[in-house]
Amino acid sequence: MNEVVKCECGLRYVPGIERNEVLHAEHHDKWVNGQPVPFSPYERVIGSIEGRDVLESSMDLPQSYRIELANVAMLACQETPFKAGYDGSDEDIDLDARAYILREKGRGVGLIILRRRDRFWSFLWDNNGKENIYSHSTFFEVERWVVERIWVVSRLRKQHFAQRLVSMVADHLKNGIGELGWELPLTDSGRHLVRSVCPHGFWGTGDAFSIYGYEKNQKI
Ligand SMILES: CC(C)(COP(=O)(O)OP(=O)(O)OC[C@H]1O[C@@H](n2cnc3c(N)ncnc32)[C@H](O)[C@@H]1OP(=O)(O)O)[C@@H](O)C(=O)NCCC(=O)NCCS
Ligand SMILES: [Zn+2]
Repeated sequence: MNEVVKCECGLRYVPGIERNEVLHAEHHDKWVNGQPVPFSPYERVIGSIEGRDVLESSMDLPQSYRIELANVAMLACQETPFKAGYDGSDEDIDLDARAYILREKGRGVGLIILRRRDRFWSFLWDNNGKENIYSHSTFFEVERWVVERIWVVSRLRKQHFAQRLVSMVADHLKNGIGELGWELPLTDSGRHLVRSVCPHGFWGTGDAFSIYGYEKNQKI
């Protein structure tokens, strides 16, 4: 009997079984090359990074087009399943959901999902490079754009695509990078990224108390 193998793309499958091979080939292709993104008359390019356009999906665009772009978020969510999603169907004007997609050869290879939020804690970095809440009682009622999810296809990582994407999107929204909020919890790679763009600390949001257990640790 054929054995189950786990590929670097994350999929477990049984080589030699045709249906498994087909599913794996599809999955692997997206993992390497990204999610197909249609060219559209509605598309709005906000800039480009090394020849790769950055597209904006916002609520003023037709929902059918937003839903097509949101397929990139479906791919990205395989690597950050606990983060807020984006399916293009948001209609809550206050949250003003947006997605920014890095497109390479007709494929979505990077993504930032943003929404407006108004509850934040201030975080500093500790000596081990880990985020540390500055004051668990500090709760700012200021609206900010929050990076809810950020993702770059595996092949393009550690080449400063995420950094440049954050910087381009912040400029486009007329925000300083330090004014953005970041949804918690951070992944390890997310932590490296946030530390590189916010070296002095950052605004965190999300369920920090249950994530970090600060209510049990009042000395912070
Ligand atoms: C997080 C993520 C978007 C970073 O993308 P990226 O394009 O590789 O990031 P960058 O190349 O811009 O790196 C930014 C900085 O972080 C560092 N860094 C990024 N990933 C790192 C890692 N895994 N280990 C060590 N350092 C890392 C880079 O070296 C760079 O620092 P530098 O300026 O000092 O060189 C990407 O790793 C990813 O998609 N991860 C899976 C999804 C995820 O965890 N998202 C975050 C939570 S939503
Ligand atoms: Zn694979």
